[in-house]
Amino acid sequence: MTPRTTDWWRHAAIYQVYPRSFADGNGDGIGDLAGVRSRLGYLQQLGIEAIWFSPWYLTPMADAGYDVTDFRRIDPRFGTLAEAEKLISEAHERGLRIIVDVVPNHVSDEHAWFTAALDAAPGSPERDLFWFRDGRGDSGELPPNEWQSIFGGPAWTRVPDGQWYLHLFAPQQPDLNWRNPLVRAEYEDILRFWFDRGVDGIRVDSAAMCSKDPTLPDYDHALSPNPHPYVDLDDNHDIYRGWRAVADSYPEPRALIGEVWLADSARFARYLRNDELHSAFNFDFLGCSWDADALRAVIDQTLAAHASVSAPSTWVLSNHDVTRHVTRYGRPDTSTAAGIRQYNPVVNEDLGRRRARAAGLLTMALPGAVYIYQGEELGLPEVEDIPADRRDDPIYHRTGGKDPGRDGCRVPLPWSGTSEPYGFSPEGAATSPWLPQPAAWAQLSAATQNTDPHSTLNLYRRALAVRAAEPSLGDGPMRWLDSAPGVLAFTRGQEFTCVVNLSTTPVPLPGDAQILVSSQPLNQAELPGDTSVWLRTTA
Ligand code: GLC
Ligand code: CA
Repeated sequence: MTPRTTDWWRHAAIYQVYPRSFADGNGDGIGDLAGVRSRLGYLQQLGIEAIWFSPWYLTPMADAGYDVTDFRRIDPRFGTLAEAEKLISEAHERGLRIIVDVVPNHVSDEHAWFTAALDAAPGSPERDLFWFRDGRGDSGELPPNEWQSIFGGPAWTRVPDGQWYLHLFAPQQPDLNWRNPLVRAEYEDILRFWFDRGVDGIRVDSAAMCSKDPTLPDYDHALSPNPHPYVDLDDNHDIYRGWRAVADSYPEPRALIGEVWLADSARFARYLRNDELHSAFNFDFLGCSWDADALRAVIDQTLAAHASVSAPSTWVLSNHDVTRHVTRYGRPDTSTAAGIRQYNPVVNEDLGRRRARAAGLLTMALPGAVYIYQGEELGLPEVEDIPADRRDDPIYHRTGGKDPGRDGCRVPLPWSGTSEPYGFSPEGAATSPWLPQPAAWAQLSAATQNTDPHSTLNLYRRALAVRAAEPSLGDGPMRWLDSAPGVLAFTRGQEFTCVVNLSTTPVPLPGDAQILVSSQPLNQAELPGDTSVWLRTTA
């Protein structure tokens, strides 16, 4: 068991499990907690320190579980609360911490609060938990304002008595009114519910969107007015101060990790002040193209913004919302690698994987915590050719397929074997996986990669082992070294150097350095293009 320090979130390697697609224990084609429990050994051997679970709560799955009916119950497709409790303690026995996802912006339209609100009259206390308003126009036939849903279409839906309710995401995800004290009290209680069950941290979904300007003003998307009527309102900070007090009330304080998509890094850093969230995902890095100057600028800006509030940086390349980075980095025009979700007509998967492996070593060497999205350690690409009738993501359906949505990064993992379900479901399962798995994935399964010393899986295992053993990695300072154009080089501590060659020209390596890990097989003399290396250097 790893030592339990209270500041693990400052340095940990954290693995994101998307429960629906990780491993299926009962053979219904949907991942579940039994599947996760059977694979804890794999995660321990990988060398991660914490697991973040995307939502596992009771849900009608209108947005893959980000539409929660009851935060205190596990969806029967995933298992039971007793199983979740067992999973938490089994993970702890293996030295793995647990982070669960809490979604404060909205609930499911099947949540008891929302069904009560629908049954209640306009102006009732039940409706005040949400954003119900009369419409505009002579008979209220127009939505209260022009806001658009992030998933496409208007952000308002009309109910039979003529009022409208706000949903920044799908209509099945009504937005909560955080000005109502019952909402605050309920969420603080949900945090306690999970902390009391041993959960070590909470990932806060859409953290910068909870508070709304109560006058619900119209605004022009193109002009991006400041202040925005629902992104990054100052009232959000008050919510997270309350949450921090709950987290800090435990003998071993629990961590809060925000999903904060904001272009302004100074505004982003405000969420990480010492009485608010502990850390937040760094999406500027995720969205950056495969370009040395651009990456260096993002890294410097990230470190400076975090230093201003003494918070640790985080590094993340993929998650359940964006095109997998093997595919992003394999696009013909690297400048478009920044487009985090788009169709990828011409992809050089080998090049993308080569760069993804190099990027993995970069992220694991940078100061702070690192997130690994399930399947990233297998070098999985985005699955592009999912038939329309198998696609599930509301983004795909609500945009009429203009946005490919997120199914392509959510395809069930290949564990073993030569055909579907590749060990995702048990042998002989009657139902196939909820999304189809590509034929080429036989080569990418965990079992295939386990025995190949050069596989992406073994690269991640080696790198995570070095990272865990190396005191200068994780939290702490870094220093840039002079390097050739297209090359990033930096030291951590006295003896550790990371060199990333993003160009196509090989560069010489220092003759006396010991190679700890490299993203491609190396000779001692030079570092080829699109390759990273970790070196032990003596000063
Ligand atoms: C976050 C989640 C995403 C979800 C959305 C609405 O962005 O990561 O998957 O659809 O919030 O809850
Ligand atoms: Ca299952």
